[in-house]
Amino acid sequence: MTPQQAEARKLATFLETGQILAGTLKLKEALSRVLATLGRQHGMMGSAVMLLDQDTNELHIVASHGLDESGARRGKYRISEGITGRVAQTGKPVIVPQISREPMFLDGMRARKRPLKRQDLSFICVPILVSGKPVGVLGVDLTYKAERDYDQAISFLSIIATMIAQAIKVDHLIEADNQRLLNENIHLKQELRERYDFSHIIGNSGPLRQVYEQVTQVARTNTTVLLRGESGTGKELIAHAIHYNSLRASKPFIKVSCAALPETLMESELFGYEKGAFTGAQGRKKGRFELAEGGTLFLDEIGDLNVSTQIKLLRVLQEREFERLGGIETIKVNVRLIAATNKNMEQAIADGHFRKDLYYRLNVFAIFMPPLRERKSDVLLLADHFLEKYALEHGKRIKRFSTLAIDMLTSYHWPGNVRELENIIERAVLVCETNVIHGHHLPPTLQTAEGSGTVTRLSLDSTVAAFERDIITDALKTTRGNRKRAAKLLDTTERIIGYKVKTYGIDCDRFRK
Ligand SMILES: Nc1ncnc2c1ncn2[C@@H]1O[C@H](COP(=O)(O)OP(=O)(O)O)[C@@H](O)[C@H]1O
Ligand SMILES: [Mg+2]
Repeated sequence: MTPQQAEARKLATFLETGQILAGTLKLKEALSRVLATLGRQHGMMGSAVMLLDQDTNELHIVASHGLDESGARRGKYRISEGITGRVAQTGKPVIVPQISREPMFLDGMRARKRPLKRQDLSFICVPILVSGKPVGVLGVDLTYKAERDYDQAISFLSIIATMIAQAIKVDHLIEADNQRLLNENIHLKQELRERYDFSHIIGNSGPLRQVYEQVTQVARTNTTVLLRGESGTGKELIAHAIHYNSLRASKPFIKVSCAALPETLMESELFGYEKGAFTGAQGRKKGRFELAEGGTLFLDEIGDLNVSTQIKLLRVLQEREFERLGGIETIKVNVRLIAATNKNMEQAIADGHFRKDLYYRLNVFAIFMPPLRERKSDVLLLADHFLEKYALEHGKRIKRFSTLAIDMLTSYHWPGNVRELENIIERAVLVCETNVIHGHHLPPTLQTAEGSGTVTRLSLDSTVAAFERDIITDALKTTRGNRKRAAKLLDTTERIIGYKVKTYGIDCDRFRK
């Protein structure tokens, strides 16, 4: 081969190497192909790319050519060991012209195929440097030739190593990017979960915040929770939040209402039954306990549970096992219990309607849901929330409540709590034909609470007056207290508006902002 031919061949190899490395994101595969090219074009008998493991400081073969499998596997070095290790440590190339004469040659790659018995090999090892730091080595075996120009061989291999380094750098960047995306994803999911869980619980009054805090405290434990509070205060919502904040979130959340079901029905509901357990039991059926396996079982209205089922439930709580109705097989359960009641449990115990021992088992961590009348500041938040929800649901463009409607909502005592508020708003949305909910869209029970709640009788006069006051207040709000424009808006005169404002004691100044 003339020097020109040799030069041309090197250039061709650089080109091919560049193309291989740029052509794929699979680093190992690309490296193997580069080594194969070196073997084919430049008579390199064996070769390997080894990369440094940052954690163990060991070199691992990531690609090799001309070494057999076991040899490749054996080729693992501590960084200070042998020649390869030295190159990786110092970042300087090393040449061993005749490996048979090198006592320091630690043949970690003993599997070398020798071209001919007794023919000696030369070994050249160059570092792979990323940002000036060795991240691995490229080592090759060549047949020994006394006249070989080793400096040239090193320059050639160093260029190949530089190209490999570039590919490794890109690989690391992609890897880091993937890792970053992965972390970001985990973070976003986490954030979503956190928001998801409390997002449809509206309200930030003090009492409700205390509830959130308790939920956060207890959710991730397996503790049984007893939710107490009047009907419609959001107990079920909180039970959900506990489940979705718990480690059981991906497992089922199963609800059973204990209210007034006859004994057999209740028990087959909870524990399931075997075929023929009672008339009508035509096949085996799983109970709620089994369906909730790994997750949460929510026993709603536990105060209404019949006494005989209470005994069975107590046993499940104590022993964590039960049998299906008509069955003998004992079933183990891993279920977290949340119970809810609006009953006065202490009274129920005193009256003999509820077992004391079961009550103690359930009442491990109690959360009290405050009635809506004790968290007035949540009323308008909830009202706005439901307004938005039902306006969307019924395809209406209702934007807000009139001043009077707001007064009525806030002064009412809400015996049915949030459920009542929700129903009232839905009804108002249905009957409302403008883009504002007015006082007269609210039911009569709230009308009587007009003002400070002193109006107790509902008459035509008072209803009309309330309506009129409401409409005028609203117009004044729109015109920022300008009576002339409000009159125009209502198709009346400024004098009449002035008169009504005085009669109803509307404070125009509050609209001038
Ligand atoms: N803080 C709240 N935010 C949003 N909706 C609520 C809130 N509290 C209760 N609700 C809604 O009110 C209704 C009654 O709540 P629920 O959890 O069934 O009450 P309970 O089980 O105490 O009778 C449900 O539609 C629920 O979604
Ligand atoms: Mg309920």
